[in-house]
Amino acid sequence: MSCQTPCCCTESFEDVTKIVAPKSLDELLKQLEKIFSKDRVNVEYVTALMKAYKSNPEDWKKYAMMDQHKYTRNLVSNGNGKFNLLVLCWNMSQGSSIHAHANSHCFMKILDGEVLEERFDWPTDSDSEASMSKTMERKHTKDTCAYIHDKIGLHRVSNPSHAEPAITLHLYSPPFSEVKCFDEQTSHVTMGQMALWSINGVKSE
Ligand code: SIN
Repeated sequence: MSCQTPCCCTESFEDVTKIVAPKSLDELLKQLEKIFSKDRVNVEYVTALMKAYKSNPEDWKKYAMMDQHKYTRNLVSNGNGKFNLLVLCWNMSQGSSIHAHANSHCFMKILDGEVLEERFDWPTDSDSEASMSKTMERKHTKDTCAYIHDKIGLHRVSNPSHAEPAITLHLYSPPFSEVKCFDEQTSHVTMGQMALWSINGVKSE
């Protein structure tokens, strides 16, 4: 099991200064499988490792299936049951809802383009009809890697460009299939499914 509490995950049981940059997505996946086979995860190490992989479209183009109407979630690996690795495709101006992460770790590496991440506080009272409070807004550029966990807050990810698509690589550990989504104006919660557009490069039914 991977650690549920990021605050205890920065111990140096994996040394960030000793990272060997993965030369391909396959190599990154192999290193991730090794890391997540252990009981605890060093969040700083995984972030640095995903950043160290230099995005090469040859590695991920088979997973990058865009849709005209909504962003797509394309499964690359189920990480031997320890994590899900997905390529997300954001067509121009597409975005997620404001959502939580079911107490999982969420790493997001930018493979192409740029995405906007907006962070929000958890609502104090979802019956109050109060709008949600934004705590941060940041653009993530190619080859950077961001991290979030429910203890940090909620977020919304979108492609702010009207001209270019964006492609991101997400790792969720442990994997989860249902997600809490929030209405920005009222803070109301709905449950959403983490639907997959394709699995291993094959479009889902
Ligand atoms: C998603 O996985 O559908 C949204 C992106 C995220 O959680 O960062």
